[in-house]
Amino acid sequence: MPITFRFWASTKRSLPSLSFLAPIMLALLTPSAPPSPISRFGLPKGCDLVAAAALPVAFGTSHVALVHRASLSSSQVLLVLGAAGGVGFSAVQIGKVCGAVVIAAARGAEKVQFLKSLGADHVVDLTSQNLTASVKGFLKSRKLKGVDVLYDPVGGKLTKESMKLLNWGAQILVIGFASGEIPVIPANITLVKNWTVHGLYWGSYSIHRPAVLEDSIQELLSWMEKGLITIHISHTYSISEANLAFSALRDRKAIGKVMIVFDDMGRSKL
Ligand SMILES: *[C@@H]1O[C@H](CO)[C@@H](O)[C@H](O)[C@H]1NC(C)=O
Ligand SMILES: *[C@@H]1O[C@H](CO)[C@@H](O)[C@H](O)[C@H]1NC(C)=O
Ligand SMILES: *[C@@H]1O[C@H](CO)[C@@H](O)[C@H](O)[C@H]1NC(C)=O
Repeated sequence: MPITFRFWASTKRSLPSLSFLAPIMLALLTPSAPPSPISRFGLPKGCDLVAAAALPVAFGTSHVALVHRASLSSSQVLLVLGAAGGVGFSAVQIGKVCGAVVIAAARGAEKVQFLKSLGADHVVDLTSQNLTASVKGFLKSRKLKGVDVLYDPVGGKLTKESMKLLNWGAQILVIGFASGEIPVIPANITLVKNWTVHGLYWGSYSIHRPAVLEDSIQELLSWMEKGLITIHISHTYSISEANLAFSALRDRKAIGKVMIVFDDMGRSKL
């Protein structure tokens, strides 16, 4: 059944005082949404509408980044920063679908548990562990040299530290700056190590390359139908509680997605 979604993605671009926010998506099921190539896509039967509304921006970003841009392959090592957030947890799952060895970094025991349940090969708890030491220990135990693809929605010091773990020929995916700090990726190191830096803003594809997004969403929907990816929503609020949704993100309580559901939508299924 074809369904039309209208959604807004608010990131730090529109909320300068909330620069730590991971993207949050508001979804509204409506038959009158303006037709843009990505506002309309068919959903599999029995699909949870709230879960489906979480698909485009978070999973879409990770899919375009890892599959379309970095061509992540099965023998490669993927390091995901901010791994328990909306885009991070989707990157972990997509990494596993691609057959990569996935290392996830997050804060707190609950998030570590969640990431292990998603199949991450190694999880670093940044509240108690040193990223470098923990990742190096894991790589050594698997006889792996370093990280091939860095998925970075965090920025700041964590990016700087992660760069020391990258292999020759690594790909760096610049996804966002949840730390509030724009990282510096030194061009001299990029040169000698033959790194590729990809900047990715999912929304701009709807203007410049809509076909890439259509293909990406179709592949994600087929993965969802096969149960290869699951959309974890830790908090759901009504539109009148939108402030609580932002608090959940600010207080780092979100594990997976935070959703705002319009009152007449409920948790209906198709
Ligand atoms: C972790 O250890 C490395 C040296 O092994 C150091 O450079 C880095 O700053 C440490 N990270 C933190 C967050 O303390
Ligand atoms: C790369 O450039 C930075 C900035 O000029 C410099 O501090 C650093 O030593 C250089 N590193 C190498 C390996 O050349
Ligand atoms: C450097 O990286 C690019 C992009 O990943 C790759 O196509 C190229 O073959 C690499 N260079 C060498 C000398 O292998």
